[in-house]
Amino acid sequence: MKQALEQIKQAAIEQLENCTDLKALEELKIKYLGKKGELTAILKQMGKLSKEERPVIGQLANEVRATIEEEVKTRTEQLQQKALEEQLKSEKIDVTMPGQTFELGKKHPLTIVMDEVKQIFLGMGFDVVDGPEVELDYYNFEALNIPKDHPARDTQDTFYINDNVLLRTQTSPMQIRTMEQRKPPIRIIAPGRVYRSDALDATHSPVFHQIEGMVVDKNVTMADLKGTLELFIKSLYGEDSVIRLRPHHFPFTEPSAEIDVMCYNCHGKGCRLCKGEGWIEILGAGMIHPKVLSVCGIDPEEYSGFAFGIGLERIVMRRFAIDDIRLFFENDKRFLDQF
Ligand code: PHE
Repeated sequence: MKQALEQIKQAAIEQLENCTDLKALEELKIKYLGKKGELTAILKQMGKLSKEERPVIGQLANEVRATIEEEVKTRTEQLQQKALEEQLKSEKIDVTMPGQTFELGKKHPLTIVMDEVKQIFLGMGFDVVDGPEVELDYYNFEALNIPKDHPARDTQDTFYINDNVLLRTQTSPMQIRTMEQRKPPIRIIAPGRVYRSDALDATHSPVFHQIEGMVVDKNVTMADLKGTLELFIKSLYGEDSVIRLRPHHFPFTEPSAEIDVMCYNCHGKGCRLCKGEGWIEILGAGMIHPKVLSVCGIDPEEYSGFAFGIGLERIVMRRFAIDDIRLFFENDKRFLDQF
């Protein structure tokens, strides 16, 4: 038995010394010192020993246990230290390195101005409404009094999904959708994306933004239209802005006008920026056509209204002196970081 104990001690120490990871060490600990371990197995046989032998073997067994325990402890500490060193080596932090900066996104120039436009109209008591970009022919054309043979309905200008469904070419369908849902007095703006089958160049993009506006009430006149838009332009561009109304034609307004703002660069004299015109066109507008009111179940004898459509890109380009519409959609951070 004495021999057996010596052997266990030898073997345990040798294996512990060769052990290189903590998991294996734990297994060795159980193998030698555990309840079902080798040492316990020997001690269970103590009963067979003589009275004289028992204390001798008992003492030896305790010594062996103590030695193994000591070795397990030392080895555990060594391996833990080694593991820690390795971890520190692999996770080395250089506290003198500059910190990682997280770049915050910011508002797109179109969004900056769009938010401002919304704010101006909210201040005048308008609601902001939203509608679909994939639209029915009925709302985009038919109900807006745009006849079947109108050039805008040509596939050259409009992206069709099928005969009845298209990508809206203007935000004006929101006039119809709103009048179907609300009773006068109505005061809304409807901002959003619109699509036209245009080739991309410095001033044209197949995707752009409009802000539709509409007021329907009793006794609404062209003077209200002009006053509202003048207030809008002055809020956006400053008190000294000057606008003019030019006669125009839209099938869904009568009379119709295009509204220009005096070139801020040359004050009407004509320069490169306004292409010699002295004025920059920024929106279309007019008194809502009686046919359009009727289609929506609003009596044109009782009510009248005005509508307008602002091109967002154009006012943003003017605002930030941006000379190419493509910059808005290229996602070039060097451009976007300037706002
Ligand atoms: N929808 C017209 C366009 O896209 C603009 C407009 C809106 C004109 C409302 C009159 C009234 O050109």
